[in-house]
Amino acid sequence: MNKHKVKVGIICGTGLGDPQNQIVKCQTVTTQEEAKNDFGLPSSDLYHGNINNVDVVMLSRHGPGHKTSPTAVNYRANIEALRLAGCTHILASTACGSLQEYIVKGQLVIPDSFLDRTIKRSTTFYDGVSSKYPGVCHMPMEPAFDPSTSEILFEVGKELGYTIQKGGIIVTIEGPRFSSKAESNLLRSWGGHLVNMTICPEVYLAKEAGLLYAAVALATDYDCWKDCKDKVHPADVVIVFKQNVVKIKETFVKAIKIIGERNWDKEIDELQELCRSCNVSSS
Ligand code: ADE
Repeated sequence: MNKHKVKVGIICGTGLGDPQNQIVKCQTVTTQEEAKNDFGLPSSDLYHGNINNVDVVMLSRHGPGHKTSPTAVNYRANIEALRLAGCTHILASTACGSLQEYIVKGQLVIPDSFLDRTIKRSTTFYDGVSSKYPGVCHMPMEPAFDPSTSEILFEVGKELGYTIQKGGIIVTIEGPRFSSKAESNLLRSWGGHLVNMTICPEVYLAKEAGLLYAAVALATDYDCWKDCKDKVHPADVVIVFKQNVVKIKETFVKAIKIIGERNWDKEIDELQELCRSCNVSSS
């Protein structure tokens, strides 16, 4: 008997749009709810459903109609809503620029680390806003993404026949503007593989909240570092994402089945113990 019942939160990024019409197309959505919490309103309603006999809760990162900018996304409310809904895991999708020649448009990457270049976002739950998060928490960021969940996403993507890279450094910029050529080259010189606008602070808030978080990144463009005509434009990002979105959906659906078949008690207990021990004010 498992101590923790698996429930998977799905954060639908750019191009995955409204969770009701996308991921769950042929699956059941049982309820939809507004999930205001101590950190405010999440970007969208939560859609509770079931995929491959696993309970899931979906939300749209940028809200219905993609109206919320990367800076304005209430990342804390989103993660807290999924935690309060009983999620043990989060699978997130993100459109990215490729910072490496060999990561081609339409390719998937399962990131394993990040460079955080955001400047205007709430970066912790532990700032006195909620009595549920008392004190100060210094969370280690290695591993930044849950390795076991990331491994499942990678193996599934490979089995489905997609070009997919295991591991990669994802740089999150503040946006909403894209990087200058000088910035893009700087991110490359730092070893970045991908650039996006949303994985931070989402990934580390999920860890602070004790949730096993992994992401599938889809390369939609070469940002602007390459000496070619092909410079990033939002319309092209959406087109390339739409052309390849099936890869993310299929990877998620198959991964959710595998996640549901496993016992995660050890991973969940270890992460929750880490959260407790990293709260320097709790002892
Ligand atoms: N999302 C998709 N492409 C991007 C890029 N080049 N920079 C930042 N975010 C992105």
